[in-house]
Amino acid sequence: MTKPLTVLGIETSCDETAAAIVRGTPEGARDLIAHQVLSQFEDHRPYGGVVPEIAARAHIDHLDSLIAKTLDEAGLDLSEIDGIAATAGPGLIGGVMVGLMTAKALAAAAGKPLIGVNHLEGHALSPRLTEALRFPYLLLLVSGGHCQLLSVDGVGKFTLYGSTLDDAVGEAFDKLAKMLGLPQPGGPAVERWAKAGDATRFKLPKPLINRDGCDFSFSGLKTAARREIETLGGADVMTEQDIADLCASFQSITATILASRTNRALTRFLDDHPQVDKATLVVAGGVAANQVIRQALADLPVNFVAPPLKLCTDNGAMIAWAGLERLTLGLTDPLEIAARARWPLDELTSAP
Ligand code: KG4
Ligand code: ZN
Repeated sequence: MTKPLTVLGIETSCDETAAAIVRGTPEGARDLIAHQVLSQFEDHRPYGGVVPEIAARAHIDHLDSLIAKTLDEAGLDLSEIDGIAATAGPGLIGGVMVGLMTAKALAAAAGKPLIGVNHLEGHALSPRLTEALRFPYLLLLVSGGHCQLLSVDGVGKFTLYGSTLDDAVGEAFDKLAKMLGLPQPGGPAVERWAKAGDATRFKLPKPLINRDGCDFSFSGLKTAARREIETLGGADVMTEQDIADLCASFQSITATILASRTNRALTRFLDDHPQVDKATLVVAGGVAANQVIRQALADLPVNFVAPPLKLCTDNGAMIAWAGLERLTLGLTDPLEIAARARWPLDELTSAP
């Protein structure tokens, strides 16, 4: 049996400073023993979006104390950690560098292995922390920066089935919220408003829905929503009911698009894996927090797995877990590893 490992994970690729510690083995008992997330939300609020320089500076200001707090929560000393994992990309390069440099310094000082984790692989593997989930599975990764369908065949082993041709789905939610004068991040705000809305009121388009393949497009949907806002005289004069109805219609169409494209990917996944009877579909990324979208996906003929809400948005646990999976396979990185702004999943290293 594999020896249980304890891994510290650091996430700084966007506007969340996060650290966590996981302990266990990929196929056996495992536990999230510390979990700290510090959102920089207020720092960016005046600018209506994430400002990379402000994000990097905030990571510098808070990361050391956050890691100390995480070790404290676990009741562990750095010498009791088996490996140090940090997001090495993709993401805002300044922030990624802060987290990765910190991880390198800790790894060098404590003489521990370093694991540079791809943020997307973190999202992709995170459901294996909380579920007894075996490879292969179909993954829908939906976040502020990504919208992809992938076959996950192992650590570092991914086949891309489709991705967005323009906006990521979370980005589309964020832009709709901005147009309506709702707070950022937009997804949770739109979901809250949609609860009181009529999802059938606005007839919004479903871009690419009949097109072959598994790619997505959301910019046409966003433009149609902008036109509806203009027709109503602008966000300032829209009634609360107008806003709620537009949020509900947008959310419902988005759920339909995601479910329909995922259904296509499912056909391909079953063709690629004839040994699989019923596919497992995992949804990950911040948008996976949306209950209407979850329900539309859960209605597909799959074993549906969604991580707990606190693991859907960016967090340190997913980086610690991906680090633990890699460390178990002996996939560690040299201290020279570079931070990367771009890092597609199909460029990952994997075990033979
Ligand atoms: O995974 P994540 O925390 O960060 C990225 O790597 O992008 O995802 C953040 C995105 C934001 O665009 C946010 O608006 C969206 O996830 N999001 C949601 C919900 N909660 C977060 N979108 C729709 N409904 C939600 N409840
Ligand atoms: Zn993310």
